[in-house]
Amino acid sequence: MTSRSRITLQTLVARKRERRKIPVVTCYDYATACLLEQSEMDAVLVGDTYGEVCLGHSTTLPVTVDHLVTITTAVRHGAPSKFLIGDMPYLSYQVCSEEAIHNAGEFMARAGCDCVKVEVDRRLADTVAAMSRATIPVMAHLGLKPQSVHQHGGYKCQGKTAQDALTIIEDAKILEEAGAVALLLEAVPHEVARIITERTALPVIGCAAGPHCDGAVVVLHDMLGYSAGHPPRSIKRYAELHRVLLDAFQAYADDVVAERFPEEAHSATMPKHEYERLATLLAKRG
Ligand code: KIV
Repeated sequence: MTSRSRITLQTLVARKRERRKIPVVTCYDYATACLLEQSEMDAVLVGDTYGEVCLGHSTTLPVTVDHLVTITTAVRHGAPSKFLIGDMPYLSYQVCSEEAIHNAGEFMARAGCDCVKVEVDRRLADTVAAMSRATIPVMAHLGLKPQSVHQHGGYKCQGKTAQDALTIIEDAKILEEAGAVALLLEAVPHEVARIITERTALPVIGCAAGPHCDGAVVVLHDMLGYSAGHPPRSIKRYAELHRVLLDAFQAYADDVVAERFPEEAHSATMPKHEYERLATLLAKRG
């Protein structure tokens, strides 16, 4: 396998300057990270969507720092060259700046992240500034903030009215001035995404935000078709993994039941003389 050159924040800024889009995907385990390492993906987000797609929760709220630092470390082992984004979970940065810095340090120092992502608006600008002063590169996640699902009243597109759009556009500026190094816009209209992307030098990654951001992020399980059924409008499917996996599970179960697997060839064989000796020993014991 060829080793790839390391993607850094400077790489992402250069991509924006050169108008080359930045592909980003979520990842939650080592084996998948090893595959992503061999791809042209620029960045990997170990998102708190882990709570939904891997743990089966209905929101991201139950995910903890320990959960995410553990799996983020595994993803770093598999994808050493990728720009690795650690996702700070619910209430790991909202309470106070000290806690935010301490928890972000776990992602940076233990898991080897290149930046941490926090779901913020202007009310948390001071926290972003404090993290930035503490040398932590922060990606500010704006628009639909899934950790605020109960305040949003559901997973709804944000910024559809002129006033709401203006608030998000202003928030982006305020967070840039507070020291954020990148932005993530989730579920905002493409017009709002375009205005924000044009008005900042920061790399802007969109999630269900249309074509005008500097890059795009999707949840791996959605783009790979892990589950059957209609994907959300924002998703393009690149595989139908549920079909491949279901066929494989069924074929394996059928083989075991029909005694086609495992065969003797799937295990070790005793040396012939040891087997003969074993037969003698067993015979002696009756
Ligand atoms: O946690 C996550 O996977 C995310 C993406 C949906 C942007 O924040």
